[in-house]
Amino acid sequence: MNRQILKMDQITKTFHMGEEEQTVLNHINLTVNIGDFVAILGPSGSGKTTLMNIVGCLDTPTSGQYILSNHQVDTLDEAKLASIRNKEIGFVFQQFQLLPRLNAWQNVELPLVYRGLPEKLRKERAKEMLQKVGLADKLRNRPNQLSGGQQQRVAIARAMVTGPTILLADEPTGALDQKTGQQIMKLFHELHNEGKTIIMITHDKEIAQHASRIVHILDGQLSEECV
Ligand SMILES: Nc1ncnc2c1ncn2[C@@H]1O[C@H](COP(=O)(O)OP(=O)(O)O)[C@@H](O)[C@H]1O
Ligand SMILES: [Mg+2]
Repeated sequence: MNRQILKMDQITKTFHMGEEEQTVLNHINLTVNIGDFVAILGPSGSGKTTLMNIVGCLDTPTSGQYILSNHQVDTLDEAKLASIRNKEIGFVFQQFQLLPRLNAWQNVELPLVYRGLPEKLRKERAKEMLQKVGLADKLRNRPNQLSGGQQQRVAIARAMVTGPTILLADEPTGALDQKTGQQIMKLFHELHNEGKTIIMITHDKEIAQHASRIVHILDGQLSEECV
């Protein structure tokens, strides 16, 4: 039985800036199993976002092999990457990235519009997801009528509504105060307990402690903390 959802083998990412060459990821290996809650912890500039972009199929590595859900993604073109990304990954960002003119319900519904689901079904599913993140009473609020923590809940509902295999979060509490950040971590715990696979990128040690695995990133290399 193969419960492995993600496998990176000797992944390297090198950026060229004129004559300069910078290797940001240097032959890294990473395996994630279904139901894992992994934190990738490292200081600013350590390559976290570069790694997230590769994990999330937003960018391809310079070399190495990357397998996501039985697809070998390191060699794919942009169109194929986009289709795998839409199916497999639910993104959560530091700055929420909700559409300001749409209310919470419409923001969560949007990924289902792109999938061509009938309106009634879309509305139902989006509502269920917003109930799940504790926002049943805020369906018609626009982002500027919600607190930061509530906006991040909407973003999490939007990420989850399509049923992705991995929830991929880049500094999800980075724009929130400590108490609100803890509430978002509580929600991640609930999702993890339901069997969701979560990869969370953070520079914050305390936030990383919420995960069940902590992988450190430093100088282009990964090392796993034994818990
Ligand atoms: N597109 C790019 N072109 C050139 N250099 C880049 C690019 N993206 C990131 N870098 C460099 O890679 C290093 C790591 O960046 P990043 O992955 O954003 O780190 P983190 O998210 O941990 O702060 C930095 O030195 C940055 O300047
Ligand atoms: Mg970053």
